[in-house]
Amino acid sequence: MKNTDQKYIEEIFSRYPNKRAATLPLLTLAQERFGYISKEACVWVAELIGVSPMEVHETASFYTLYYLEPVGKNKIKLCTNVSCMLLGAKKIEKTLKRKLGLKKKGTTEDKKFHFETAECLGYCDKAPVMQINTETFEKISDEKVDEILKKYE
Ligand code: FES
Repeated sequence: MKNTDQKYIEEIFSRYPNKRAATLPLLTLAQERFGYISKEACVWVAELIGVSPMEVHETASFYTLYYLEPVGKNKIKLCTNVSCMLLGAKKIEKTLKRKLGLKKKGTTEDKKFHFETAECLGYCDKAPVMQINTETFEKISDEKVDEILKKYE
């Protein structure tokens, strides 16, 4: 954990009526710090909010944004839902997989990237869209893939 985490955790708690209600932002923080929602991460969140690690694991397993196994450092989500698909997402998906050396979703050999497709990311008017970690790239094209990936290499 970082030195600034305690202050951030207190800020998170201040936004919710009780500690348990802060489970999701704490899971997000845990994923940033541990890389994925490991047993250790579940214990850490559980101790913060006063529930069992199993309850934390059950919550994390409900949401696709939490990884329950180790994945690449930079997590790529490419939207392939209707708006994005109509504007070239499938071609971008093929290019991304080729550049990352992946046949399907997964983590690259060097562990730098994890790739997966996603349902609507909520930016349909700016399709096609992909996210890497917390950054969103709008109106992307096949040609922009290299430029975007270079930011994370
Ligand atoms: S369909 Fe891609 S962001 Fe909504």
